[in-house]
Amino acid sequence: MKIPSHIAIIMDGNGRWARSKGLARHKGHQAGVQALTGVVRKAGELGVSSLTVYAFSTENWKRPGSEVSFLMSLFQQTLLRQARDLFENNTKVRVIGRRAQLSRGVLKAINQIEELTAKNEGLELNIAFNYGGRAEILDMVRRVVDDLAKGRQDINQLTEEDLQQYLYNPAIPEIELLIRTGGEQRLSNYLLWQSAYAELYFCEKYWPDFTGEDLIKAINSFQIRSRRFGGLEETGDQ
Ligand code: FPP
Repeated sequence: MKIPSHIAIIMDGNGRWARSKGLARHKGHQAGVQALTGVVRKAGELGVSSLTVYAFSTENWKRPGSEVSFLMSLFQQTLLRQARDLFENNTKVRVIGRRAQLSRGVLKAINQIEELTAKNEGLELNIAFNYGGRAEILDMVRRVVDDLAKGRQDINQLTEEDLQQYLYNPAIPEIELLIRTGGEQRLSNYLLWQSAYAELYFCEKYWPDFTGEDLIKAINSFQIRSRRFGGLEETGDQ
């Protein structure tokens, strides 16, 4: 059975998980990192090529300052602490999103892990951080308009493949399976361009409870879907 080559995950429900246990929200985010570690390991074992996870959206700045600071430092510490293991597991880490608002410490941790793992050839782990699908499309339009003005692109010849080159990481393939935990059924501005033909899988569990077994369940659901990409099912009929 086919393993989806690119899985994207919206890791939702950390706060509710913490509240359900009478804990502070930040405990939910810490538990979320543990869950992510297990899922990254399982995805690698299953032979998934790319995994893209939503760690901080462009809208998450609206949260209380204390939670934003906590998420920033959790991200920075996690990158630093997990760098060696990810490197040794042959994982290639890339961070996508707007870098301008990020602190020097966070930027340094991002650069370090990207450089350390750049030549790895196992699982590609993309972390969407300060990421928004519309922001990505806006940033793409700004750069494309600049190239059009400078004569580096011809508006009449421009193709979807050309546009794709302006995404934060053009090497990220189409998403085959998009998983959202936490019971909500929406995209929340995640990978709008790349998810055009993604199969969607919604799971009631809060993210910290999501395990490698749950990943396998999601993949099993993907495997029995019929993907036609706007065409017709292959039936053997003329
Ligand atoms: C959504 O849960 C989760 C987030 C906004 C943050 C996700 C971050 C992590 C799993 C940890 C940091 C990631 C890395 C890569 C180190 P929520 O807070 O919206 O939960 P709620 O909907 O129950 O309030």
